[in-house]
Amino acid sequence: MTADRPAAVLVLAAGGGTRMKSATPKVMHRIGGRTLLGHVLSAARALEPEYLVVVVRHDRDRVAAHVAELDADAIVADQDDVPGTGRAAECGLAVLPADLTGTVLVTYGDVPLQSTETLTALLAEHHMLGNGVTVLTATLDDPFGYGRIVRGAGETVAAIIEEKDATPEQRQVTEINTGIFAYDADVLRAALRRIGRSNAAGEKYLTDVVGLAASEGRRVGGLTASDRWEIEGVNTRSQLARLGRELNSRVLERWMAEGVDVVDPATTWVDVTVELSADVTLKPGVQLHGQTRVGSDAVIGPDSTLTDVSVGAGASVVRSHVVAAAIGERAQVGPFAYLRPGTLLDVGGKIGTFVETKNARIGPGAKVPHLSYVGDATLGEGSNVGAGTIFANYDGVAKHATTLGRHCKTGSNNTFVAPVELGDGAATGAGTVVRRNVPPGALAVSGGPQRNIDGWTQRKRPDTPAAGAAAEADGRSDPAAAAAAAAAASGGGSEEAHE
Ligand code: UD1
Ligand code: MG
Repeated sequence: MTADRPAAVLVLAAGGGTRMKSATPKVMHRIGGRTLLGHVLSAARALEPEYLVVVVRHDRDRVAAHVAELDADAIVADQDDVPGTGRAAECGLAVLPADLTGTVLVTYGDVPLQSTETLTALLAEHHMLGNGVTVLTATLDDPFGYGRIVRGAGETVAAIIEEKDATPEQRQVTEINTGIFAYDADVLRAALRRIGRSNAAGEKYLTDVVGLAASEGRRVGGLTASDRWEIEGVNTRSQLARLGRELNSRVLERWMAEGVDVVDPATTWVDVTVELSADVTLKPGVQLHGQTRVGSDAVIGPDSTLTDVSVGAGASVVRSHVVAAAIGERAQVGPFAYLRPGTLLDVGGKIGTFVETKNARIGPGAKVPHLSYVGDATLGEGSNVGAGTIFANYDGVAKHATTLGRHCKTGSNNTFVAPVELGDGAATGAGTVVRRNVPPGALAVSGGPQRNIDGWTQRKRPDTPAAGAAAEADGRSDPAAAAAAAAAASGGGSEEAHE
């Protein structure tokens, strides 16, 4: 590997990408959780070049800033207003030492599936044969639009002719230029100085280096890429989607080979940055994004989206949406939960059905099983939150915290008006609005005692099915009272309250 280290890699990324019809520069569109340029720079960086250069022009500032984000050591070179891949390479060389020697690899920023292995094979071939230039070629059923490879004697390449400049005979050639080259630095520099723009496009063609070098007796070789996906560039949204699906299926194949159970690869999407353990199960309709990590025996899905989430061994996440959260070992999430940033669900805990959490630490074995909002909260070990509970964290001005101690048991339909605390082992009754701290072991109840106002339905809602049902129920228990109630209902009467 080190033997084939290139002196420089030039990534051409100055083109406009008009056919994407996008305000976003083409090389910044994403597949597999990375931009096109991100994929290319990661493949190129792995070659350990002395210099890694990205040539920019269209939407220059955004692309340059993105390069800096992706790879702090990459150098940005600006292409001037002379068009063409040859000019782009020349502008790339211009930021490097004028006496740079060794091999210069040139590639495109919009060919996301190019692999370090294939680029390494190109460099190895280039060095082994002592070539001045080595071009990565491919043989396509439909070569339309590509530069055609004109072969010379004994496995060499004599020239590359662009579609626009080709004769009808040359257009029959199905071997094409992928745009990826290894050059001897001196050969490239010298040839670029001599190349003009007298062609159908009026551009300075990088491909003309091939003919020049060959005519001057330098050997030009061609290595044929066996994997056509690796050489395919993105020009349209349709190609972006096709390459995105292919990349995804490669990522899934790799994880299946590592022991991950992917039930339905067609509906499962995993970013290249995700890490999975053996015996993870991904059910249909799962998307795993960013820095997501999943431990062994965890089951994700069906229908769940996790972004930047760590999931412990043996945990399960069912039909849920999870962002920037940590799910502990053997914990359970869903169905239909929404875990927002800062949710930390500890070992064996549960965030259940129709529960939303944010900035919430749910202790070991603690449970929020049903219909709740838990924001800015800490729940101690083994605590259980009743169904339909709201952690009222926002007073209209600022957010406040709620803390439940260990083994608290709160009733259904509570509201915790933050800031508030429950001590260890505390409890609350159903419907409690907790505004003051609850000491350890205390039961908090709020709201007045219940009052029953007899005969209310028949008086206030006469002639309704409810009044009929109430009269029948009264009749079953006490026919005289039913008659009296009916009389009272027609004649009015005073309300009588029972506690
Ligand atoms: C080029 C090749 C062609 C090859 C094809 C493979 C030339 C003259 N032709 O054609 O032989 O079959 O790629 O896809 O090289 N770029 C710049 N600056 C420029 C022009 C292009 O940086 O002035 C970059 C683009 O951003 C793109 C790449 O170079 O990433 C290729 O440019 P493109 O215009 O697509 O070249 P093609 O005409 O398709
Ligand atoms: Mg092109």
